[in-house]
Amino acid sequence: MKAFQACVAGLVFLFALSVMAESRTVWLDQLDLGQMRQGWGKPVANHSVVSMPLRLNGTTYERGVGSHAPGGFHVILDGNAERFQAVVGIDDETVGRGSATVKIYSDKGGLLFDSGVLKPNQPPQQIDADIRGVNRIAVIVGAADNGNAYDHLDWADARFIVAGADPQLVSAPPEEKVILTPKPARTPRINGPRLYGVRPGSPFLFRIPATGERPIQFSVQSLPEGLKLDSDTAIISGTIADLTPKAYETTLIAQNALGKAERPFRIVVGDTLALTPPMGWNHWYAHYHNVTDKMMRESADIMVSTGMADVGYAYVNIDDCWMNTAKHADPLRVGPFRDENGEILPNKHFPDMKALTDYVHSKGLKAGLYTSPGPTTCAGFAGSYQHEEQDAETFARWGFDFLKYDWCSYGQIAKGESLEEFKKPYILMGGILERLDRDIVLNLCQYGMGEVWKWGSEVGGHCWRTAGDLGFELTQYHDVASRNAEHWPHAHPGAWNDPDYLLIGAVGDAATLSKPIPCPLTPNEQYSYMSLWCLMASPLFYSGDMPSLDEFTLNVLCNPEVIDIDQDPLGKQGYCVAKHGDAEIWRKELEGGDVAIGMFNRGEFESPVTLNWTDASLNGKQLLRDLWRQTDLGIFDTEFTAPIPRHGVMLLGATPE
Ligand code: GLA
Repeated sequence: MKAFQACVAGLVFLFALSVMAESRTVWLDQLDLGQMRQGWGKPVANHSVVSMPLRLNGTTYERGVGSHAPGGFHVILDGNAERFQAVVGIDDETVGRGSATVKIYSDKGGLLFDSGVLKPNQPPQQIDADIRGVNRIAVIVGAADNGNAYDHLDWADARFIVAGADPQLVSAPPEEKVILTPKPARTPRINGPRLYGVRPGSPFLFRIPATGERPIQFSVQSLPEGLKLDSDTAIISGTIADLTPKAYETTLIAQNALGKAERPFRIVVGDTLALTPPMGWNHWYAHYHNVTDKMMRESADIMVSTGMADVGYAYVNIDDCWMNTAKHADPLRVGPFRDENGEILPNKHFPDMKALTDYVHSKGLKAGLYTSPGPTTCAGFAGSYQHEEQDAETFARWGFDFLKYDWCSYGQIAKGESLEEFKKPYILMGGILERLDRDIVLNLCQYGMGEVWKWGSEVGGHCWRTAGDLGFELTQYHDVASRNAEHWPHAHPGAWNDPDYLLIGAVGDAATLSKPIPCPLTPNEQYSYMSLWCLMASPLFYSGDMPSLDEFTLNVLCNPEVIDIDQDPLGKQGYCVAKHGDAEIWRKELEGGDVAIGMFNRGEFESPVTLNWTDASLNGKQLLRDLWRQTDLGIFDTEFTAPIPRHGVMLLGATPE
């Protein structure tokens, strides 16, 4: 009897096993489609991206997912799946327009599928990938070569044949927020720029950025006559007495109970400002049209309390929406554009601009403002058209140190799209600012029109946006950087290519103008983003929510050795010097013969990346330092290899031995 019972139990067990192992179909459209990344719109189950039937080359499909290039997703399979099958192509609804590419990689190494360029009205491609034993696949959708207009990519009949748990769709594999940078030493370290420009006779304000245990006593050797240092607050202010253009070689000194740090600081009296890329914070992506005086003051406080100011962040910049508009949900932002004398009026959230800049300046920080050469700004608030001189004088009187001049509605004023018309409003404002007795750094914001990098400096600009708003394509930050880097020959002290702000931590969604939410980038992507910006000598403006700054975000923003790459006095912009598959090597020359190197892995899985001396134009033995971890790696002769995580970076300093 016992033997019979055992036999039955055994059979039941085997039956259960066979049921468990039986293959079944899990459709892609049943998974969490919200995780799919795509260039436009949202993925739609069983319909195209514009909610029409899924149709490929004349055939209609009942099941599938409509999406839009570029983008992608990951699927966690944990060895439970057997096959991934789908029919991919460009939906017939595009009537001959659009294109895309699809590549599928497995964590077991290798490419499972490569569509080449998919075009409309061609037989779609069949995917039938063997994914037995695979833990994760990465699907990468490219926009092909002609932009992403009409790139309606259909995943028709897309399904997984699985034997175990359901596949899980995720936008990116989960990653821990690893803090790479050690806490600042207790001994003093002086950070930020080593080169600083001021016009003859202009007011001077500079807070020496320094880390180390407080109290620190500051001093400056060879401070030009007319300037004074507050040895407790580290604020240098005054006006240099001698109006002759010349360079002063000073030494900044910071001393506490544990030690002393010194750093050369060259002050150049001349006609060029922003001799290193400006650093600070801009309100746009944190608060959009909700900005208030209170938020600006709070952000200045946080810039100091978090230590951002101690590594070089200095500008606190108001973007659009500080003026009045004709119609707005918030009545405090509605009102006349100007007073009876034609002077621009801040809205009721900005009761006293001079008091606001005084507050910012009292901390040794600087204040920035925004306007447009058009009649209205991009958000429809008062612009400066036909009041350029008056507004510039007002901004100077209020005490602003930085102006972002945003094209916006000037398109209605410009007569066509000639180079002359692109330059005109900037020549006007650049000339006005140069004549003021206050130094105002000028940021040209016109999205790269007329190849602004070629003439931005000549019209009086100190930095210029090279493209549209990064907030709309944040996940494409590396491509945006690559395009910005192509303009490297035009960057030099006082003239910087601007790929837009640092959008990490908590940022509002640009499309919906949402309240700040965690940015969509993985921790490794955030390290890569900051590394790219520093290698490109980009202006470093954080534009996330200051009160939500957490330890991880601050560690990405505030590593002084990484910032030194950006602020290097030679002012060379780095760029990509070699590509090997998914690996990219970027290189930036530094003052004194050192070189900064970025080793990037743009692939979907961790992979070794090799830096060889030929690619990076290095000669002889090199001491390599890992700048994120602030550790020396040793001396290398001809090459260096390191494993780099998905979308991650190794940022190196190379010193010839
Ligand atoms: C444009 C600019 C942004 C921001 C907004 C404000 O889109 O490119 O950086 O200033 O205007 O409306």
